[in-house]
Amino acid sequence: MLAAIVRTPEELAVVDAPVPVPAAHQVLIEVEAAGAGYVDVMALRGEYPTPLGTGATPGVEVVGRVTAVGPDTPAELVGDRVLAVLTAFGGFAEKAVADVEGIVPAPDDVGAPDLVATGVNALVAEIALRRAGVTEGERVLVLGAGGGIGVLATQIARAHGAEVTAVTSSAARGERLRTLGATRVVDRTRSALPDDDTYDVIVDTVAGPALGRHLRLLRPNGRHVLCGAAAGVPDPAAFASPLHDFHKSPTVLFFSLNSVAPRDRRHSWTRVLALMAEGRLSPVIDRCLPLAEADAALRRVADGTAFGKVVLVPR
Ligand SMILES: NC(=O)c1ccc[n+]([C@@H]2O[C@H](COP(=O)([O-])OP(=O)(O)OC[C@H]3O[C@@H](n4cnc5c(N)ncnc54)[C@H](OP(=O)(O)O)[C@@H]3O)[C@@H](O)[C@H]2O)c1
Repeated sequence: MLAAIVRTPEELAVVDAPVPVPAAHQVLIEVEAAGAGYVDVMALRGEYPTPLGTGATPGVEVVGRVTAVGPDTPAELVGDRVLAVLTAFGGFAEKAVADVEGIVPAPDDVGAPDLVATGVNALVAEIALRRAGVTEGERVLVLGAGGGIGVLATQIARAHGAEVTAVTSSAARGERLRTLGATRVVDRTRSALPDDDTYDVIVDTVAGPALGRHLRLLRPNGRHVLCGAAAGVPDPAAFASPLHDFHKSPTVLFFSLNSVAPRDRRHSWTRVLALMAEGRLSPVIDRCLPLAEADAALRRVADGTAFGKVVLVPR
């Protein structure tokens, strides 16, 4: 099979590679589309708990059909179309293995790039907003709103009936976010969020040096969900501010999809598919590129120019 492997942290090469063999409780998937995400970028830079070294294949999310199963794995899964979250990378390839616990059903009537563009990012956005207990009329701030997770968090928060302020990096990205449901847009390259602008819920995939400042924008009983660190891993000193604001009963939630039980993932995925079917959630594809352009795909993610999801198709 063809697979993209790491030559250097900046260069991937597409090579002939052995087809991976599913271990116990794993399935082999014929990949129709794979997502390129910030997780891959961080892992290539060695900033992720499982770094991607020379020879490794990036990619943590794929859609495709199960073609084989490992030992102690239900044979009935063969033939199923699935979305898979891969805990050990390997998605930038014609075939990938996934833990059974990491798969959810993929409907036949939705294209693979659309499913990948929704997939993991929508699970993160949906579960993050549910854990934050967002309710109708609340003010929600989405940081990194033009990113893969951000465009979906904006739409899902709106579907909850929230007022959504989307922070992004250009007027053009802001316009697109308005069409996706943002009630207000802030272009972070031109103006900062005012100190007296306060929020019930903050969905944060950005973190970085501004985290402390963003935590201070929480209203009494506000909830800040930290889901990622596209602007860098924050200084722990940032958490002094919720401590200082103890009297406002702030909640800081750390959220990783890796900790979510398979049943909760499936529940979230059912809700995401229902929102899509109701026309309240649309996949946003930045680019759909062939596997041969895997390094260009990751450069787009790394330099922050992508709006929505960068998708790779193996053939
Ligand atoms: N919690 C989980 O389970 C989970 C799952 C998947 C990914 N993640 C993490 O979530 C984060 C975002 O992932 P993603 O796939 O949405 O990435 P992405 O598509 O690259 O989006 C990140 C967005 O953040 C904004 N941004 C980037 N650099 C910034 C900076 N220096 N300052 C302010 N804003 C900046 C940009 O949006 P604008 O230009 O619109 O501002 C960018 O599009 C990553 O850290 C990733 O590892 C977490």
